[in-house]
Amino acid sequence: MDLPMPRLAFDQMPPALKVRVFDVDYIRFREPDGGLLYVTRYGWPLLEHLLPRIWYRQEAFATLGHKLPGGTGSVYYIRTETPMSRPVDLVVKFSRVAQEVPLMIEATFPGEIPAQAAENARFNSPFEEFCLLMDLRRGGMLARFSSPPDETHDDRLGLRRPIQMRTKRPLAIYCPPNEYPLWRLGRSEARFIPHASLLDEYKRHDPRAVKADLDIHRDYVTLFAFVQGLDAETVCRQGGMTDLELTLLTRRVTDELAVRGYRVLDNKPRHFILRPRRRDGQLLVRRGRLVYALVDFELLQRTEPYLDRIEHSARRPAAT
Ligand SMILES: Nc1ncnc2c1ncn2[C@@H]1O[C@H](COP(=O)(O)OP(=O)(O)OP(=O)(O)O)[C@@H](O)[C@H]1O
Ligand SMILES: [Mg+2]
Repeated sequence: MDLPMPRLAFDQMPPALKVRVFDVDYIRFREPDGGLLYVTRYGWPLLEHLLPRIWYRQEAFATLGHKLPGGTGSVYYIRTETPMSRPVDLVVKFSRVAQEVPLMIEATFPGEIPAQAAENARFNSPFEEFCLLMDLRRGGMLARFSSPPDETHDDRLGLRRPIQMRTKRPLAIYCPPNEYPLWRLGRSEARFIPHASLLDEYKRHDPRAVKADLDIHRDYVTLFAFVQGLDAETVCRQGGMTDLELTLLTRRVTDELAVRGYRVLDNKPRHFILRPRRRDGQLLVRRGRLVYALVDFELLQRTEPYLDRIEHSARRPAAT
């Protein structure tokens, strides 16, 4: 793939390279071997690091990087080096779309997940995941429906807090050219069809999505920025916080997701990255609260109140 030189800003890229899927903009490159790379606005400044020849060829993610411990899927950390710029820390994660979700979802407060949501649990497709994650980062339901929309919201203590949520940044989706039989990918057609239908439906009302592709026989690899720090479970195990603090943090994360119209079916402390300060190792705190970033969204869902509001606003005639 030839890089456009000199590099244009994301919005200045030729329309022929732009794709919009579930309201998320990508620049899409087709590689000579048929591989497809969809780069988000966040990924655009790091493009050189996201090219598959840097991190994917000869499984560079596994040989130069390492598998992230604690996950049940295929998730790798890799530090990419390019001649022109500083190294970038990436997370490479193979999408589990249309794979079976393990029956026992290991959520910390399983009782709080509606039984139906747990029964119908399915891994997001990469495009769904990026769409939900981008919306959550902006503040989800709070950003969309609070009036007047502003940068902050009142929480239960009456303090003004940012509505944006800290998460890993979604950089790109890569679909390698190879095709595999379904059993190799662990996918079932029945589980795949709803994802494909959702994309088809979106394509019908947004022609900018026409080049987006979801192929049941091909892998989808998602690329994210690595978040520096330690996950909350490890911090607790190392004595950096008590079990009670860990439980309270988990409840806080669950609440902060809910108020934005979201839930993560397997919400758990391993998914919260805390930041020990370099100078003294103390955990970073802002406005009296621990700073955390969330990192796993394959089971991120909108809650019923958010879905209702979206449906309601779609039905309401536009103001003239
Ligand atoms: N972007 C990131 N930055 C820092 N750490 C990360 C990042 N992504 C993942 N990790 C770490 O790697 C672990 C495994 O990643 P992840 O949770 O995405 O894998 P998984 O296979 O979905 O695991 P699980 O089945 O437990 O949900 C996380 O618990 C977290 O500690
Ligand atoms: Mg997971």
